[in-house]
Amino acid sequence: MNPQAYADWSSQVLSRVESALDEWVPLEAPAGLGEAMRYGVLDGGKRLRALLVMAAAQAAGAEQTPAGQDAALRAACAVELIHAYSLVHDDMPCMDNDVLRRGKPTVHVQFGEARAMLAGDALQALAFEVLTPDVCPDDLVMRAPIQARLCRLLARSAGQAGMAGGQAIDLASIGMALDETALRDMHHRKTGALLRASVQMGAASAGIDESGPIWEAFSRYGDAMGLAFQVVDDILDATQPSDTLGKTAGKDADANKPTYVSLLGLAQARAEVDRLLLQAQDALSDSGLSPEHTQALAALADRIVHRDH
Ligand code: IPE
Ligand code: IPE
Ligand code: MG
Ligand code: MG
Ligand code: MG
Repeated sequence: MNPQAYADWSSQVLSRVESALDEWVPLEAPAGLGEAMRYGVLDGGKRLRALLVMAAAQAAGAEQTPAGQDAALRAACAVELIHAYSLVHDDMPCMDNDVLRRGKPTVHVQFGEARAMLAGDALQALAFEVLTPDVCPDDLVMRAPIQARLCRLLARSAGQAGMAGGQAIDLASIGMALDETALRDMHHRKTGALLRASVQMGAASAGIDESGPIWEAFSRYGDAMGLAFQVVDDILDATQPSDTLGKTAGKDADANKPTYVSLLGLAQARAEVDRLLLQAQDALSDSGLSPEHTQALAALADRIVHRDH
């Protein structure tokens, strides 16, 4: 996919995702909660997880039916809702204590801690509401078995075995020298699990079953990109200024967090990212799908690795 084709594809996908989120995140939630929820999720972020869902869904053929399109769009919004909730909580004083996110004051700075906590809670619940619309008889929305599958994939990636567990390890590891195995495990959970789930949910939107080569290849791609994503986040934290990142630079070293940069140094951390990119590209070749089908996933792998924020 050439840069112009990627730009066209991603802007078309993102306009659908943004307008669906705008419709589904309710301003009218009580006592200012809606305002905090919308502040946390709308109008910001690279939306890489949503793009992964949509790229995987298209590769697997979900756009061929209205129900498949509906499933993919809802899955893309649901992962972004979980991601936004995780950021709202990650930034709170009891976790990373950050004041800047997506170029704006963090949710707890803007609305207070209690409302930030509740906004995160409500965004998490909303993700599962978005995945479970009423089933209509003419198959314009996804069927109940697909809804259940998407909920299962998302819940497992967000819970103790995935993001929340990884965040617990992250906080328990401050000031500790983790070895590479332990650090890889933490990164796979806290960030990798949701990225892998994004790719799997795209495939599930198309009804791809979990025993075939496409599922296996997409899962390997998602694993490699999930880890690469967090290693790049570690590198950017150490190398980019705050105004490029839209969040406070140098936080990991300041907070004494074990990262790929603190363990391996910048050069080796970058070499690890290159190795993971090759793994992801190999996985796509092994999927049995044509390069034309997987071109958006290939372009996204490149984008995840070569970003500056
Ligand atoms: C930041 O994720 C948090 C991590 C999991 C490392 P992103 O870099 O995807 O954040 P946004 O959504 O673009 O703001
Ligand atoms: C956060 O990792 C991962 C989450 C699950 C939110 P970081 O703490 O490194 O994310 P940033 O750097 O604050 O975005
Ligand atoms: Mg953190
Ligand atoms: Mg953080
Ligand atoms: Mg970080």
